[in-house]
Amino acid sequence: MRLRLLPRSLAARTAWVLLAGLALVQVAGLTIHALDRLDLQRLAQARDIAVRVMGLYRAVILTPAADRDAMLHDMEMPPGLTATLSPGPPQFARFEPVGQPLQRLLRVNMNLSPVPAGMRPREIEFSRDPADGRVTVAMRTPDGSWLAVTTAIGGLRPWHSGGFLLAFLLMTAAAAALTIWAVRRLTAPVRILALAAESLGRDVNAPPLPESGPTEIATAAAAFNTMAARIRRFVQDRTEMLTAIGHDLRTPITRLKLRAEFMEDEEQRRKMLNDLEELEAMVSATLAFGRDAKTTEPVSALDLPELLRTVLDEAGDARPDSADRLSYAGPNQLTVRARPLALKRVFVNLIANAISYGGSARVRLEPPVDGAVSVFVEDDGPGIPPEHLDRVFEPFHRVEGSRNRETGGVGLGLPIARNILRAHGGDVTLANRPMGGVRAHVLLPA
Ligand SMILES: Nc1ncnc2c1ncn2[C@@H]1O[C@H](COP(=O)(O)OP(=O)(O)OP(=O)(O)O)[C@@H](O)[C@H]1O
Ligand SMILES: [Mg+2]
Repeated sequence: MRLRLLPRSLAARTAWVLLAGLALVQVAGLTIHALDRLDLQRLAQARDIAVRVMGLYRAVILTPAADRDAMLHDMEMPPGLTATLSPGPPQFARFEPVGQPLQRLLRVNMNLSPVPAGMRPREIEFSRDPADGRVTVAMRTPDGSWLAVTTAIGGLRPWHSGGFLLAFLLMTAAAAALTIWAVRRLTAPVRILALAAESLGRDVNAPPLPESGPTEIATAAAAFNTMAARIRRFVQDRTEMLTAIGHDLRTPITRLKLRAEFMEDEEQRRKMLNDLEELEAMVSATLAFGRDAKTTEPVSALDLPELLRTVLDEAGDARPDSADRLSYAGPNQLTVRARPLALKRVFVNLIANAISYGGSARVRLEPPVDGAVSVFVEDDGPGIPPEHLDRVFEPFHRVEGSRNRETGGVGLGLPIARNILRAHGGDVTLANRPMGGVRAHVLLPA
């Protein structure tokens, strides 16, 4: 069981990694910024407290001892600030010592404040009220009494305002959107290449890929196009060779037929002519196949039920005796993209087989499942011996070895049907039905 952390598609993976990186950088940046701001605020607060405390201290020591209480009482204090004079160091039950960093900051700043020569506080004590966080600075004046100044310390704020955070989030969102857009754009050619490979599998004559875009993509597209051209040439060469052989066999067959006419033995002559005719039929079928493979019929949208009904009607017209054993079941309309004449040839043969070898043809069309429609052609005949089920797709393979005039056929119908369907990205298979007869299953991409 592997932990699936990464999504499957290349675009999603790249975007995921980039976005994770972006988030990391943004969080780090925000933290550094916040820590820096907190430091600055602490410094400013310490300076502020030091200035106020030392201001009060100066005012107190410059006032005669007798007037100090009155002076403090009359003085207008900023909010949150209180000052008391006492003969000894102030005692607070619930106070705790102030942290070292703040103490150091306060001391440094208090030392920087100007005080008349020789009048600096002899002792300084810092304490903090754990309940409300207020800080008290107690100083011993040169004449021995203590001045305690208590002041509130404002909370620290890591960012300037809500607006700042909002702007930051908007910036991050914009960067993320840009990343996703760029990744999708950059990986689009990979998707196009996959689609092209897919359509080449269905049709060797699929149009070539545009060889533009970034160097790597253009190179890949060019390599793909070269490969497609080679496959096309290969297929073409084979078909041409097949047609050439078929063509060249015709002349010797004709010659043989002429020679057979001179045979003495009536029986032998008849058999030989039969064989030669059969041979001729096979050669013509081969030539026809080669011709069909060469003409590249364009793919177009066609209505499959209509095509099936037409083939059934024509088969019924050709053999009126079996017309009532032909039927169609399925939707009334279903559009597929295919080569109409080639596809018609497939069903003409399958239905003709069902009628010739099975005596009936029931056609059933099923709507698309996983992007492919299914057509079943069933009959009630004897079926095909299991060892022949695959071999009937080989050219010229017939179950009843001799090429019987009654049932026509040279044994190219099924191989041609499979050839055509595979070129469409589909396939055809045969199976014997449990209750007898054959079921042909055609799969065709919708
Ligand atoms: N529905 C069927 N029931 C029984 N046998 C079948 C059926 N369909 C095909 N076959 C067997 O498979 C063989 C090959 O079929 P295929 O369509 O390729 O050639 P054919 O019908 O003999 O000739 P062609 O279609 O080229 O005119 C047939 O000769 C027949 O023996
Ligand atoms: Mg046939």
